[in-house]
Amino acid sequence: MKYRTLGKTGVKVSEIGLGTWQLGGSDWGDVSEKDALAILHRSVEMGINFIDTADVYGMGRSEKLIGKFLKETKETVYVATKLGRREWIENNGWPTKYTIEMVKRDIEDSLKNLGVDSLFLEQWHCIPTEMLKSGEAFELLENFKKKGLIQHWGCSIESIEEGLICMEHPGCETLQVIFNIFRQKVATDLLPIAKQKNVGILARVPLASGLLTGKFKKGHKFPEKDHRNYNADGTAFNVGETFAGVPFEKGVELAEKIKEILKPGDNISMAQLALRWILDHEEVSTVIPGATKIDQVTNNAYASSLMVLSQEVHQRLKELYKKEIEPFIRGKY
Ligand SMILES: NC(=O)c1ccc[n+]([C@@H]2O[C@H](COP(=O)([O-])OP(=O)(O)OC[C@H]3O[C@@H](n4cnc5c(N)ncnc54)[C@H](OP(=O)(O)O)[C@@H]3O)[C@@H](O)[C@H]2O)c1
Repeated sequence: MKYRTLGKTGVKVSEIGLGTWQLGGSDWGDVSEKDALAILHRSVEMGINFIDTADVYGMGRSEKLIGKFLKETKETVYVATKLGRREWIENNGWPTKYTIEMVKRDIEDSLKNLGVDSLFLEQWHCIPTEMLKSGEAFELLENFKKKGLIQHWGCSIESIEEGLICMEHPGCETLQVIFNIFRQKVATDLLPIAKQKNVGILARVPLASGLLTGKFKKGHKFPEKDHRNYNADGTAFNVGETFAGVPFEKGVELAEKIKEILKPGDNISMAQLALRWILDHEEVSTVIPGATKIDQVTNNAYASSLMVLSQEVHQRLKELYKKEIEPFIRGKY
């Protein structure tokens, strides 16, 4: 495993991290506690030292399992969590503004769930653009940073516009963005500015919810409790969080074309090559694939050891994106 500096935090994080939305056990079908803990332990065995979670993943389950794991492991692990969507769920809509009391409650609950005295990284969880524009949400986190309850803060965002707004605030140390072979605009429109401002980049949904592993066939049916079933067209939340906003059947076709360009083999999986494509962008600090199975963690971690992809492969994927992928992307971008 190789390590990169996470923007202004100065901390060295593994190129491949772990996304733990799956460990909430609610939006990806069931993941047992035993499997969840095994996924976390395998991650550190593979050199992973960065984990992304959120207070709402299983309404605290993901954070609590990570808290349990932190007590069991001897390794140093940096955990990033998120806040802001709990209010959206509880009130059936966004609050008009976040108050100091709401933020205090959210931070204190995450501290309790994770069993730590201070959060390594707290991120706004895709709150509305207008709230980012007002800047008040940033000042709330600055306040809790001064109090020592959080060490660093950043934002998980849905569009380039939102990323640019967040980076205007000097306190914003990281951005979490949907970045993968389906979502290439980030490379040209966001990453150069993040580099200039030394903002760390967390690449989420790197496998387009599994599509970029090449494992799905047309007509595949996902379980009822899986967001790839109930949010395939964005009826529950931002369509971009499911298959990166590409309609599933189209995504399967595109994955076949991408496979022909990446040429996975017996020892290199398409998932690894798709992650490698992201890592070839030096501005990315860490890629955070999610996993429901232990072997996926092992497989994904090896992407860090692969050679960079050739210029020809990058060029062909760029052309495919412009011609055949970009017109199909839905949702904020
Ligand atoms: N708004 C936000 O801030 C936000 C939104 C989305 C995600 N995230 C974060 O980003 C993380 C990553 O995104 P994501 O989990 O949505 O999408 P993802 O990483 O693109 O896809 C994860 C899924 O891909 C499949 N997979 C992973 N590795 C594989 C491998 N080696 N071989 C075959 N299949 C593999 C698994 O699917 P199966 O389930 O089919 O096994 C897994 O559940 C999340 O866990 C979360 O921490 C944040």
